[in-house]
Amino acid sequence: MKKVKLQVCNGTTCFVMGGADMQNMVDQLMVKFKDCLEIERVRCLNACSLSDNFAKAPYANIDGQLVGNANFQTITKIIEEKLSND
Ligand code: FES
Repeated sequence: MKKVKLQVCNGTTCFVMGGADMQNMVDQLMVKFKDCLEIERVRCLNACSLSDNFAKAPYANIDGQLVGNANFQTITKIIEEKLSND
């Protein structure tokens, strides 16, 4: 079974920019994708250090693809695309 690796940023910038809702998102994703998803919380994905990127926080990384404005809908769509590309 294919697995998608999701890294969710737990850093200060992402937390302030909406990351406080990330735990709820992670809980929903774990229910939706169960065995197809490996989730890791990381301290900072280093995307926030670029000034243009600040407003796009919170960030996540899905199989190496950096995703800004991370929310349940966006992350779900990308995970479904990656799982269907097999
Ligand atoms: S705090 Fe999230 S990318 Fe830096």
